[in-house]
Amino acid sequence: MKKRTFLKCSLTALAAGVAALHAVPVSAKKYGVALDKVPALKKAGGTVTIRLAEKDILLIRVSDSEVRGFVAVCTHRACPVSYEKNQIVCHCHSSHFDLDGKVKSGPAQKSLSRVPVVLDGSRIIVGDL
Ligand code: FES
Repeated sequence: MKKRTFLKCSLTALAAGVAALHAVPVSAKKYGVALDKVPALKKAGGTVTIRLAEKDILLIRVSDSEVRGFVAVCTHRACPVSYEKNQIVCHCHSSHFDLDGKVKSGPAQKSLSRVPVVLDGSRIIVGDL
């Protein structure tokens, strides 16, 4: 990775503001996160990036009944991705992904990695990590 790209990616990661949350393991590879700890996810359109199992996970509340999760790493050259205006964006080289994680525009060629997420009352269950 070139120095300029590295700096751009690092600044993007800082801007994304990865939240450190208290996640409770609910099984070997699943974590429970109380919605009270992530108020951004209480309404559709809300998003947050959390760190679980040494991975940054982008969570997006796409509707009242669904939260989607993605490994928050671009499939091009591993820069951080973030949610913006109903899509997922990597600012390092301007790849765009839809809310299924599929590439809308490159240079990325591969979809983002999905992470299973279940809304379970007052918490979300994130796994398999
Ligand atoms: S790292 Fe190149 S577009 Fe994301």
